[in-house]
Amino acid sequence: MKTLILFSTRDGQTHEIANAIAAELSELGVESDVVDLNDAEDIQWEDYPRVVIGASIRYGHFSPLLDAFVKQHSEKLNRLASAFFSVNLVARKPEKNTPETNSYTQKFLARSPWQPDTCAVFAGALRYPRYRWFDRLMIQLIMKMTGGETDTRKEVVYTDWQQVGQFARKIAQLTRK
Ligand SMILES: Cc1cc2nc3c(=O)[nH]c(=O)nc-3n(C[C@H](O)[C@H](O)[C@H](O)COP(=O)(O)O)c2cc1C
Repeated sequence: MKTLILFSTRDGQTHEIANAIAAELSELGVESDVVDLNDAEDIQWEDYPRVVIGASIRYGHFSPLLDAFVKQHSEKLNRLASAFFSVNLVARKPEKNTPETNSYTQKFLARSPWQPDTCAVFAGALRYPRYRWFDRLMIQLIMKMTGGETDTRKEVVYTDWQQVGQFARKIAQLTRK
């Protein structure tokens, strides 16, 4: 029996985190499949006692695909052992990196028909050179307002990989309801 790890990403960081969770689970002897939420139409749910969903934030929102998927599969998700993680840059601040203190995550959980057994919030990556000019300008403005990195030549990964490992170990202990 495997763990299903679904991710929704725009720039790849959430995929990297999903892969890191899979790698940690593998170390613990737990097999997993990492699947893009865009390609999650034909899931063989009976193969998975455990499911993890991770999604990133852009301009204040998760991908609409996340809500649609959760709505469509809420019954199954609620029956399985499950975990959710969100990825954003606000979470680079320690006071905003828990499900209780990260407003995006809090809002998602408050309206979601799926209630995961465990949640985490991870700081994402800031990769100025990869953004289109408008996004680069907007992110630079947000960083200026929030005391972050404003040098547009830089790529900064804020993800705490130890925190990701800890979350994976928690996932490994979740058991079917
Ligand atoms: C165009 C753009 C808009 C973003 N908007 C937000 C935001 O509103 N709040 C936030 O905390 N982070 C924001 N971020 C940061 C992303 O959440 C962060 O870069 C994350 O690592 C992206 O994950 P992904 O690569 O999986 O898409 C934004 C990033 C970009 C490029």
